[in-house]
This record gives sequence, C-alpha cells and structure tokens, in this order.
Amino acid sequence: MPSMPFIVPLPNLTATAALGRALARVLEPGDVVALRGDLGSGKTALARAFIQAQLGADAEVPSPTFTLVQTYDMPSGVAVWHFDLYRLDHPDDSLELGFEDALADGIVLVEWPERLGAYLPARRLEVVMVLTGESEARTACLTAVGDWKNERRDALQQAISQLELAETQ
Ligand SMILES: Nc1ncnc2c1ncn2[C@@H]1O[C@H](COP(=O)(O)OP(=O)(O)OP(=O)(O)O)[C@@H](O)[C@H]1O
Ligand SMILES: [Mg+2]
Repeated sequence: MPSMPFIVPLPNLTATAALGRALARVLEPGDVVALRGDLGSGKTALARAFIQAQLGADAEVPSPTFTLVQTYDMPSGVAVWHFDLYRLDHPDDSLELGFEDALADGIVLVEWPERLGAYLPARRLEVVMVLTGESEARTACLTAVGDWKNERRDALQQAISQLELAETQ
C-alpha cells in the first residue's frame, strides 16, 4: 500500500471525479481539505465531485469565486462548506464568512488556503493539483498533515489506493 504523500495521476476529469467520490467516503465533520494549485488546475472540479457524490450528479455546485463560500447540507445531516478565498483581502475576513462555524461541525473544502494565514488549521488534508502537460491531465498530491488518528490515516490511505487500483484496471 502506498504511503503519504499519495501521488494520484488524474488523466482526465473522470479520474478527478473518482478522487472526489473517494474522499467523500472518508471525510468526516471537522475535517479540512486544503485545495492548492494554479488557476484552472481543477480544485473546484474536485470539490464539485466531492459534493455531487452525496447530492447527486445533477446538484448545482457553482465555483465560490465571487461568493467566497457556498454551503451544502448533505443527506447525512453534515454541512459541507466550500470556500474559494482567492479574493479574500485579509485572513480575519474569513471569520465573517463563518470559517470557525464551518470548522466546528462541518466538512471544509478550501481553495486558496494560503489566504487564511494563521487560521489555517494544523490538522488538514493537503491536496495539490498540478497541471501535467496534456490538456486534461492533472496530478494530485495528497498529504494528511497534523494530528490525524491512525485509523483515519489508514482509511484515507485505503480509499486512495483503491482508487489507484481502479484507475489501472
Ligand atoms: N483531470 C482534470 N481534473 C480537473 N479539471 C479538469 C481536468 N481536465 C480538465 N479539467 C478542466 O479544467 C478546468 C479546471 O477548472 P477549476 O475551476 O476546477 O480550476 P480551479 O483550480 O478551481 O481554478 P481557480 O483557482 O480559478 O478556482 C475545468 O474546466 C475542468 O473541466
Ligand atoms: Mg476554483
């Protein structure tokens, strides 16, 4: 089984969607995903797949480019908070967006997490999306940083390695 960081080749959008679904199976309230990568690298596409895995493929998941945050109530009762902080002027402004409420009991997906400064939680899943040449090809690099329980690390590892197996079949 591969260890972290996980390098996941995403040759096309279908593969990115599969990664989003895999993460949806293992993330829990209180978890934070820091989505990094250049403009257009696929951060929103991954967040969309994560949300649609629970709300259905028809669910509208707009980019929070201008609203900075979109929230979704999952059938499980958990809220998913999807932030895009590219346009955040100051880390303190994240509080007005409800960032602390989100951390309290939601699942938090945050694009441009560098904008949070000291508010970026120490325990988080780091996902770096990298454009890898071909028009649709991306590579995701995933690392669970901070204090994760061993069983949660194992669950993440398992979800991602199953995905890798599926990709190569
Ligand atoms: N393998 C892939 N994974 C993700 N997106 C892909 C892939 N192949 C093509 N795309 C396309 O690349 C674009 C990625 O845009 P997206 O909005 O997800 O980027 P982003 O990283 O959120 O950018 P921004 O920093 O502007 O928010 C979409 O048009 C998507 O359809
Ligand atoms: Mg985006």
